Amino acid sequence: MANQLKGVVLAGGTGSRLFPLTKVTNKHLLPVGRYPMIFHPLLRLKEASVTRIALVTSPEHMGDVVNLLGSGRDLGVDLTYRVQDKPGGIAQALGLCENFAGDDPLVTVLGDNILEDSLLEHADLYREQGRGARVLLKRVRDPESYGVPRFEGDTIVEIVEKPKYPPSSFAVTGIYFYDREVFDFIRQLSPSRRGEYEVSDVNTSYVRHSRLTYGVLNGWWGDAGTLEGWHEANRLARYLVYDGYPHQSD
Ligand code: G1P
Repeated sequence: MANQLKGVVLAGGTGSRLFPLTKVTNKHLLPVGRYPMIFHPLLRLKEASVTRIALVTSPEHMGDVVNLLGSGRDLGVDLTYRVQDKPGGIAQALGLCENFAGDDPLVTVLGDNILEDSLLEHADLYREQGRGARVLLKRVRDPESYGVPRFEGDTIVEIVEKPKYPPSSFAVTGIYFYDREVFDFIRQLSPSRRGEYEVSDVNTSYVRHSRLTYGVLNGWWGDAGTLEGWHEANRLARYLVYDGYPHQSD
């Protein structure tokens, strides 16, 4: 892949599932382990040599996010900010990054996803793949809480958002690799029943029109967007430290 892989971190939404912890702050600024939640996706991207990153958040929280991260220099990344005026879903937030992406491929990470594995190997596999999309899966006990892949043999034929009857026991984690066709797919979406532009529909567009590959995470993974998920992420990430990022030791 001749072009540079850029990053997008999505940190919008209302955080309603964590209310009242999120009454005066964005959920992505709550602590997870030794860091504010948003540091985790940013430092995982940096580890994968993805340093040009667009961060999308809401107008209410942009000030706090910029106060925390600034240009990104302290974390060793180069940040661009985009505002999502109203919560309209993950796909809508990603759609705001079209100019930022230019002709380059993207790795998009949801700001509340915390993972044990490095993203370097996955990013390199996508760099080799060169086009289409790649998602990362994790086997979970409660697939109905996530986007869930339906397989025929080893091939994903559909991704269903929060299905009542999950077609497999995998969650599609909030880590997605896309080429620039993603913006055409986003333009063609309609809002779902909950009124959002769903990332699962974007991924299903890739299944139908283009190439969607997948990898499976080996280590633990968590979505810290619910109270239970946030507590679990804190338990898992309690001792997690990132190379080269200073932290207060015990
Ligand atoms: C979102 C996506 C879902 C994905 C999950 C991963 O759900 O819609 O497909 O599996 O993130 O964290 P949310 O956590 O916003 O409900």
